[in-house]
Amino acid sequence: MAQQVYIFDTTLRDGEQVPGCKLNTKEKLDLALKLEALGVDIIEAGFPVSSPGDFESVAQIAQAVKNATVCGLTRAVQKDIEVAAQALKYAKRPRIHTGIGTSDLHIKAKFNTTREEILERAVQAVKWARNFTDDVEFYAEDAGRTDNEYLATVVEAVIRAGATVVNIPDTTGYCLPHQYGEKIAFLRNNVSNIDKAVISCHCHNDLGLATANSIAGVLNGARQIECTINGLGERAGNTSLEEVVMILKQHKDLGYYTNVNARELNPLSREVSEVMRMPVQPNKAIVGANAFSHSSGIHQDGFLKDAQTYEIISPDEVGADGSRIVLTARSGRSALAHRFQKLGYQYTRNDIDVLYGSFLQVADKKKEVDEQDLHQLAKAYKPEE
Ligand code: KIV
Ligand code: ZN
Repeated sequence: MAQQVYIFDTTLRDGEQVPGCKLNTKEKLDLALKLEALGVDIIEAGFPVSSPGDFESVAQIAQAVKNATVCGLTRAVQKDIEVAAQALKYAKRPRIHTGIGTSDLHIKAKFNTTREEILERAVQAVKWARNFTDDVEFYAEDAGRTDNEYLATVVEAVIRAGATVVNIPDTTGYCLPHQYGEKIAFLRNNVSNIDKAVISCHCHNDLGLATANSIAGVLNGARQIECTINGLGERAGNTSLEEVVMILKQHKDLGYYTNVNARELNPLSREVSEVMRMPVQPNKAIVGANAFSHSSGIHQDGFLKDAQTYEIISPDEVGADGSRIVLTARSGRSALAHRFQKLGYQYTRNDIDVLYGSFLQVADKKKEVDEQDLHQLAKAYKPEE
């Protein structure tokens, strides 16, 4: 039987940390309701202690969202946890997400302390959070660069203290997929109480590996993926929600599913891009403007014979506008005939052969041949009697 992978959306927290992406309470609330409608399991609504505005946003989201768990981030600090608990007071399903850096670099450079002291702070934070909710997630920041033996000790201790989810962030996007997968496998094999908690992947994209690492995590036993719409997030971003959802959907043979309604992926991607004023790169998988565009003659010809030759996903499955046959100097005759036909011109093969020569002359001077150009070409074309 297929197993569920929980989708933990952090667009409103890690995504909103991106310079220029800050949202006001109304914008956050609107997006939270849309994320709920999308079918994500957990919405990380913000970092309540960080500002009065974020506290208010988390509080309003906690009240409005009914189906998804609403989560607030904290450091392993008593005050942070109390403020988060206060913001989440009216949530139907509140989760406190607390944690601390566990790599030697973080322990020395950020906290100037020892592994023992960090372990103690981690345990105290989880115990404190459990006073307010029985859904406590612990993050071991920079787990990607944390020694596996020590990480296992921390994970075992926080689960004993009451953590129900253990988040293993590759905070700096450093790991290779096999390394991240091995880390998760190591925890599964070396933490005696690991079955009492869900393992979560939280990957950053500094080397472009966030999605691959998250999937490697799932293949090795993780059952929650932390991700954002359009892959927004600190620096090069977080794991892209649309990518992991569609990977698990496309590769059903792996035996996993999510509750995300894929048809909402493109509409929500556009909405997030607009409200955060963060354009989506055209070649972005699933939601980029070119994700379903075909421009070279070889591809266009195959696509027009059978869409599946060059599309593994149909655009309506992910709520995209549809496939596009783009005309450029690399396009072929089938694409030209197709586009003329769509404009109502009925040309024979001979007509297209002649028109193709004039088309290439226009195409060589432009990035893309548009409808206007096609009408001009049709107007200038005089078929031989
Ligand atoms: O990247 C990270 O380590 C984080 C934690 C705060 C979960 O965002
Ligand atoms: Zn992060």
